Amino acid sequence: MKKFTNILGIFVLSFFVIQSVQAAGETPFPAGWKSWTSVTTTLTTIGTLPGCDADVSSFPPIYQETVETYCAVRPEGPGAVAVLVKPAVMTDYKARSGKLAEGSNMILHLKDLKLLFVTGYKDGKPVYAVFKEDGTDATGADGILSANTCRVCHSGYEAFCLNGQCGTLK
Ligand code: HEC
Repeated sequence: MKKFTNILGIFVLSFFVIQSVQAAGETPFPAGWKSWTSVTTTLTTIGTLPGCDADVSSFPPIYQETVETYCAVRPEGPGAVAVLVKPAVMTDYKARSGKLAEGSNMILHLKDLKLLFVTGYKDGKPVYAVFKEDGTDATGADGILSANTCRVCHSGYEAFCLNGQCGTLK
């Protein structure tokens, strides 16, 4: 019985350890994402996020930093990407107005990794989350899948990203 209790203890402990590195995303799962509008941007024209060996020196600095941040997730890099926009906010997305409706509005779909990087708005400010395609929250408490990592880049390149929107429709 004691042995069983110990094993149970370890199980419960590891559950909390796993939970503690997982954080809740700041914006809800975009349930209807499969029917959102796929748009063409600089990144979707490139088509993939490459691995760390790729020569990206001709890309604008923000793209170089994006590759540097995510290239090591798999040896060949994150792979195929798509950008999806909620149909209701398409006009504002196109205008790059910096004024998008409250809630989840834009997705960077990492197709090979089956992850959705989601940008939403709360009180007019951009907020971030990462989900698996089935809706499981995969936002990290820290590290490259944390909302803070998204924010540092999306807000850090002010001249490039307008109130959280980085890409431009091509
Ligand atoms: C190092 C910089 C960097 C980091 C970190 C980063 N992004 Fe981005 N993100 C970009 C760039 C650049 C684009 C525009 C790509 C294009 O041309 O479509 C972009 C595009 C997006 C888009 C498509 C809409 C838009 O803004 O154009 C979403 C959604 C998004 N990112 C969410 C996230 C989330 C969520 C995270 C954190 C898990 C994150 N990003 C981390 C640089 C970054």
